[in-house]
Amino acid sequence: MRLDVVTIFPDYLAPLGLSLIGRAQRAGLLSVHVHDLRDATEDRHRTVDDTPYGGGAGMVMKPEPWAAALDRLVEDGRSAGAGDRPLLVVPGPGGTPFTQSMARELAEEPWLAFACGRYEGIDERVHEHAASTLGLRVEVVSLGDYVLNGGEVAVLAMVEAVARLLPGVVGNAESLVEESHEGGLLEYPVYTKPASWDDAGTVREVPAVLLSGDHAAIAAWRHAQRLERTARRRPDLLAPSATVGTLADLDVRVATAADAPEILVLQRACWLPEGQLANSWVVPPLVETLDDVLAALPRWTTYAARVRGDAAGPGRLVGSVRCRLRPGAEEVWETGRLMVAPDLQGRGLGRDLLALSESLAPPSVRTFWLNTGRTSEGNIRRYKRAGYRVVQGPGAVEGTVDLVKPRR
Ligand code: ADE
Repeated sequence: MRLDVVTIFPDYLAPLGLSLIGRAQRAGLLSVHVHDLRDATEDRHRTVDDTPYGGGAGMVMKPEPWAAALDRLVEDGRSAGAGDRPLLVVPGPGGTPFTQSMARELAEEPWLAFACGRYEGIDERVHEHAASTLGLRVEVVSLGDYVLNGGEVAVLAMVEAVARLLPGVVGNAESLVEESHEGGLLEYPVYTKPASWDDAGTVREVPAVLLSGDHAAIAAWRHAQRLERTARRRPDLLAPSATVGTLADLDVRVATAADAPEILVLQRACWLPEGQLANSWVVPPLVETLDDVLAALPRWTTYAARVRGDAAGPGRLVGSVRCRLRPGAEEVWETGRLMVAPDLQGRGLGRDLLALSESLAPPSVRTFWLNTGRTSEGNIRRYKRAGYRVVQGPGAVEGTVDLVKPRR
């Protein structure tokens, strides 16, 4: 890969000669060419900036030196056999955020050029020159939501992130696989010897699982740590469902036949622990077929709660509830099949779905009714918290209890 960097501070890029990037250059995996923008000026003072048209603070980089520097850079690279034209990266706080996936894309390019702006930025016509006259693809890229004095620090960071992805630059390719941001998660915590460290009187131990030699257990622990860290430090990186707090964060609609297969899957996942508690696998929500779920749709109003979708399609189904007037008893409102995906339980979504059901009851309703496993103590506790009481005697289905709550 060939890298060209144009800057008014060539010395700023000296660290690119050090460490892994320096070694990669010496090994011929990478060639870095740093150019002084002032070499492309023509006046005695080697002027690169001037005051902004329209007024405002600071100085703007002049177009002529930039155009000359870029023209020369493209010509030199071409003659050196770098390719037809580079991808031009212009670091700037107003650019597309630099991410690991952008680093991976840039690592596929044979030739990258970086234009380091200073002051208030580069005259916009330089972008036009690069794109139209030179035919370059131009990407403005930001290191983060803060303002640096210029693009040089951003180039150092970007080049390091890109170069280490090139084959042969990092000795142990495996170390690239399990690090932060690969697979969309942050890295797990790491430890080295001693296993037990006496930190001035406080003994700090390495987690026992890492000393166990059980590779499957270590992999599972590390994965759990990555998830936990990501959820705590960077919830934005997790699937959209990870940021769901309440029903208002979800897309809640009346279910149609298209939702039935996912409802069946969620229902089976949610009732499996109930079957375990009841020591029975003939619990209706577990034995129902897709046809049963489809057949129930016209007899109930069923709601499907999904993580909000995007251009790629609807989000995953994470909750559902169904409700209706009891056939032949206009004063009873029945709620059933209340379910929440395992990863989103404990956030109040079940309570919200129950409240949604109750809010739909017509004025004729005097009693809210639902039914749960006799051994499902957790469910019974939650329903009691929502104002329901257990009806003495057997429930509507074998092995269940009924619960009711008067309408207020
Ligand atoms: N130049 C100034 N601020 C910058 C930032 N945040 N990212 C990239 N280049 C910059």
